[in-house]
Amino acid sequence: MATERHYSPADRLLLQADAALRTLLPFSGQPYRPSPAVTEPEAELDADDARHVAGLMRINHTGEVCAQALYQGQALTAKLPEVRQAMEKAAEEEIDHLAWCEQRIRELGSRPSLLNPLFYGMSFGIGALAGLVSDRVSLGFVAATEQQVCKHLDEHLAQLPAEDRKSRAILEQMREDEQQHAENALEAGGLRFPAPVRFGMTLLSKVMTKSTYRI
Ligand SMILES: [Fe+2]
Ligand SMILES: [Fe+2]
Repeated sequence: MATERHYSPADRLLLQADAALRTLLPFSGQPYRPSPAVTEPEAELDADDARHVAGLMRINHTGEVCAQALYQGQALTAKLPEVRQAMEKAAEEEIDHLAWCEQRIRELGSRPSLLNPLFYGMSFGIGALAGLVSDRVSLGFVAATEQQVCKHLDEHLAQLPAEDRKSRAILEQMREDEQQHAENALEAGGLRFPAPVRFGMTLLSKVMTKSTYRI
C-alpha cells in the first residue's frame, strides 16, 4: 500500500520548481513509455504539410504543458492525500505526451511554442485555485479539461495527412490516455461542470490554439 511522504514547505517549493523546469526546458522531460511513433515509418511531407502538422503538434505540446501545470498546481493545494497522489500520477503520464509531442515537432523541423511559460503560469494558478476551492471542483476541472483535449485531438486526427503515421500514432495514444484521465477524475468524485463554465473553457482554449499554432 502506498504511504504518503511528508515534505516540508521548502521541499514542496523545490519540487514545484523542478517540475516547472522539466516542463519548460527543451528536451528535459524523460518519457516513461517509448513514443508510439518509433515503430511507424517516416512520411515524406511537403513543406506546407510539415508546417501544418508541426503547428498542430505545437498546440498539443502546449496543451500538455498546461496539463502539467494544472496537475502541479492542484497537487499543491489538494486536501485529500489520495487526490494529491492521483494528480501527481496523472502528471507523470502527461510527461510522456509532452516528450512525444516535442520529439515529433523537432522531427518536423520546428520548435515548441515560445508562449509556454505564460500558459504554464496561467494553468498553474487555475489549478492551485481549483484545489483551494475543493477537491471535487479540482477533479471536475481535470475532467472538463481532458474532455476539451479529446475534442482537439479528434479535430487534429481528422486534419493529419494520411501518410503521417508517426503523428497519428502519438495522437491516438494520447486520445486514449486523456479519455481515461477524464473518466478517472469523474469516478473520483469530480463535479460535472455546467455548460457556461465549459463554454468559458472552450474560449480560453481557442486563444491557446490560435496563438501557439504559429508562435
Ligand atoms: Fe496529455
Ligand atoms: Fe491527460
